[in-house]
Amino acid sequence: MKNVAVIGAGTMGNGIAHTFAQFGYKVSLIDVAQASLDKGIATITKNLDRQVAKEAITEADKAATLANITTFTSMEEGVKGVELVVEAATENVDLKLNIFKQLDTLTAENVILASNTSSISITKIASVTNRPEKVIGMHFMNPVPVMKLVEIIRGYSTTDEVTNLIMETSKKLNKVPVEVNDYPGFVANRILMPMINEAIYTLYEGVAGVEEIDTVMKLGMAHPMGPLQLADFIGLDVCLAILEVLHTGFGNPKYAPCPLLVNMVTAGKKGIKTGEGFYSWNHGTKDLIVAPNFAKK
Ligand SMILES: NC(=O)c1ccc[n+]([C@@H]2O[C@H](COP(=O)([O-])OP(=O)(O)OC[C@H]3O[C@@H](n4cnc5c(N)ncnc54)[C@H](O)[C@@H]3O)[C@@H](O)[C@H]2O)c1
Repeated sequence: MKNVAVIGAGTMGNGIAHTFAQFGYKVSLIDVAQASLDKGIATITKNLDRQVAKEAITEADKAATLANITTFTSMEEGVKGVELVVEAATENVDLKLNIFKQLDTLTAENVILASNTSSISITKIASVTNRPEKVIGMHFMNPVPVMKLVEIIRGYSTTDEVTNLIMETSKKLNKVPVEVNDYPGFVANRILMPMINEAIYTLYEGVAGVEEIDTVMKLGMAHPMGPLQLADFIGLDVCLAILEVLHTGFGNPKYAPCPLLVNMVTAGKKGIKTGEGFYSWNHGTKDLIVAPNFAKK
């Protein structure tokens, strides 16, 4: 496998393209928006500069990586001749089903179709194609060039052969792949999101404040950042959407999103991306929001 298409040039897509290209793959980076492609390439260049500054790679590696990436706004053009597609478009079920229907007609039948989805069922995505045995989850973590884990999600029909090939491909990217089955939240988000939700409940019920909760988890559990700060990083809307997938998928009330999380998303306080969540984010520097109305009265 040498030719890969990455769909979506956003946060994850540009990181995935960067990583494949750095390890010698020819990458077609595809996005509906030219502006996203331009921003994606600018981000990759900046991140490569950082790797050069740290002497992790050379200027020649940087140039070779960039030369391995070609951008496309047309999916039809971008997927020509590729052996693997990694989809990292916006997390929306209808949008992803539509992309996979198109990929099924635009690519040869031996091409493996992977999705980087955080929460959508791989089995569901596979069901709109005529090759469910070749559809798989390849869940990279953010920031992709840095994080070692790739959660490899086997859909109901994904074959051993395809799973093994994707596990081996992940190792060639210097990642550590972990194979999991396709149930709501897979493993990473099934465990992480209830922890974040419980931290929000703890705040909502007035047990402790934002900083106290995060300090307990940072210093007590040796987490690199507290769960409320992490929620701001991930995006509160994304956390809410994943909890809804868990809640609906398992039908178990233990996954019900905290009303405070629902309120904050409704009020547009989605974390770093909107400048305010559990913290106020001023040009990347964090100020604690003192919000007495967080707690249930
Ligand atoms: N952000 C994270 O921390 C994270 C971590 C793991 C997995 N994911 C998953 O990765 C995927 C992408 O997330 P993101 O954070 O990079 O989103 P993003 O919003 O940063 O980027 C999404 C990109 O997809 C593009 N796009 C939308 N429709 C498209 C189409 N039809 N064809 C091609 N491109 C299209 C958009 O223009 C945008 O550039 C989602 O499935 C998300 O759940 C995100």
